[in-house]
Amino acid sequence: MRENIILCGFMGSGKTSVGKRLAKTTGRQFIDLDDFIEEQTGKRVAEIFAAYGEEGFRQLEREAVRSVASVRGLILASGGGTVLFPDNVKALHRTGGKILFLNVPLRVLQMRLKNDKKRPLLQVPNRQRVIAELYKKRIPLYRAACDIVIPAASPPKKVVRRIMKDLRIPEKAKNQEGV
Ligand code: S3P
Repeated sequence: MRENIILCGFMGSGKTSVGKRLAKTTGRQFIDLDDFIEEQTGKRVAEIFAAYGEEGFRQLEREAVRSVASVRGLILASGGGTVLFPDNVKALHRTGGKILFLNVPLRVLQMRLKNDKKRPLLQVPNRQRVIAELYKKRIPLYRAACDIVIPAASPPKKVVRRIMKDLRIPEKAKNQEGV
């Protein structure tokens, strides 16, 4: 199974930590879309938001999606907003990617994001309410964009195990863990 595996979900749902671990376990290449954008632009995500606004960031994100979608056999951690845009979902699916939605309950996300200092959308005074509002708007879109929903409130190790099982990634690949 060499199609790309794309992790989507809300900020704090574990896309990066699960993705890194999954890549190590399967021996595949890992790309974090935000890191890719930062490398390409030489700017932090927060700097991009500050200089060009969210619109500017979304445009760079769109370009990044198209670049990475053409790579094969990849584990890709998308950004929390990536699959909210149907053209991004189409681009990721066009190259045979499978989109996994890491589903984490609102309360858990609110706890995980309580002290976040780097995500521009969360640097607001009424953070918990903003998280709840975004969550309500976004969950149906993650569900619509994905091929599989993965319950993901547990630690990354357990989430990875669940993904391996659901995608029927063979035992042999599993045994490569830590190699
Ligand atoms: C965003 C999530 C962030 C990053 C940017 C916008 C969003 O990624 O792409 O700050 O709209 O939810 P993470 O989900 O990795 O934090």
